[in-house]
Order: sequence, then structure tokens, then C-alpha cells
Amino acid sequence: MDKLRVLLEVARAGGGSHPVPLTLRQLSERMGKPGSTLARWLRELEGEGWLRRLPEGRGQRLGLSQKGLAFLRQLYAELGEVLEGKREPLRLRGEVVSGLGEGSYYLRQEGYLRQFREQLGFSPYPGTLNVKLDGSSREAREVLQELPGKMLKGFRTKERSFGEVKCFPVRIRGKEAVLVLPLRSSHREVVELVAEERLRDALKLKDGDRVEVEVGRWE
Ligand code: CDP
Repeated sequence: MDKLRVLLEVARAGGGSHPVPLTLRQLSERMGKPGSTLARWLRELEGEGWLRRLPEGRGQRLGLSQKGLAFLRQLYAELGEVLEGKREPLRLRGEVVSGLGEGSYYLRQEGYLRQFREQLGFSPYPGTLNVKLDGSSREAREVLQELPGKMLKGFRTKERSFGEVKCFPVRIRGKEAVLVLPLRSSHREVVELVAEERLRDALKLKDGDRVEVEVGRWE
């Protein structure tokens, strides 16, 4: 809770968009906590990737990281939901792109297929529909990284190991699909969707088409 307050103070000082000068002493006064405690919280927040800290002269600049800002936005959305009954689903916007056929390779692995059937209740079309996100949706992609989803476990075959995958229920042009987020992925500008049918056929999609992916919750 205290560390969340630190994030709020940094945002309040203008550090939500870019790092701003903010001393330990100022933070200490605003929060009514000793400087040594704040120094520790800042180190921890930085270590966990919520905050950016840039030394400057004898002081420092503090700013939220993309992940920190995404966390505050998500918290805001969830507070609106629990306190006021507002429900704003997370929306990702982007365009349909082709990959290198990797999706079908992963979706043919029995280790994933079995978990899809057991946990998600369907046998997926062998492949993933790739959506390249607009710049403005990259932050929402960071939020997904932090949100709870259904987990598919990693496994090993004779050839190699396959990583853990987090799944979210989504709607794309009215069709139900599942967004799969490989936890080790470094492809942060692309999201991949899995569905029972081939979405390109069902929705008449081609490369470059603009789509909106609405992220829901598992029941
Ligand atoms: O080649 P790429 O990595 O884009 O795709 P893939 O994962 O090998 O999937 C084969 C093709 O099916 C691609 O054109 C995907 O966009 C498409 N696909 C689809 O339309 N709906 C799905 N549920 C899965 C894949």
C-alpha cells in the first residue's frame, strides 16, 4: 500500500509522462515517512520495474515506467468497477498481420492442445491470428502482462522446451477468441489470437485490416 502511494506521489509530481526532479526529502515530507524508508521503497519499485530513477547532479529524476503507468490506469478502471459499477473492458486496437507460421507450429504441440481442450474447452484451429498493435494500445498490452489469466503450463518435448502461456477471453468483431500471451515473449507490439475457427475466413480478414480486440474475464 505504501509503495503504491509512492507511485501516486511520483505521478502527482508530473512523473506519469516523463521523469521529473523529485528529491527524497520532498517525498519524505509529502508521505510523512523517513527518508531511509523511502530510499528502500524507491530501490524496490525500480527493481520491480514500476519506476525509473535517473541520477541528476546531486539529486534525481523520478518517473513511472510504462508498466507503472499501465498499472495505475488499470487500477483506476478496476476501482471504477468495484466502487461505481462501471465496466470498461480493456480494448486493444491494431491491424491484422502475417507472421512466419510460428503460430501453427505451437498450436500443433500436443502439450498445448491438451491444455486448450481441458482448460478452455475447445480444440483450436492450428494457428494464431496476429494483430500488430497501434502505439496507443501498447500500454494496454503491458496491463495484460500484469492481469491474472488462465495459465497453460510449459512442457518439454524431445526437441525443446515450450514456455508458459497466459490466456484471456476476447471478442473480435463479435466473435469469441482467446488471446494467448507467451510469458517469455519479447514481441510486445503483437498479440496473438486463437479460436476454434479460422478467423480470417469467419470474419473475412486480410492483412492490414483494422480490428479491435476487447478483453473480457473468465467466469
Ligand atoms: O503465418 P502466421 O504466423 O501469421 O500464421 P499461423 O499462426 O501459422 O496461422 C496460419 C494462418 O491462419 C494465418 O494466416 C493466421 O492469420 C490464420 N489464423 C486465423 O485466421 N484464425 C485463427 N484462429 C488462427 C490462425
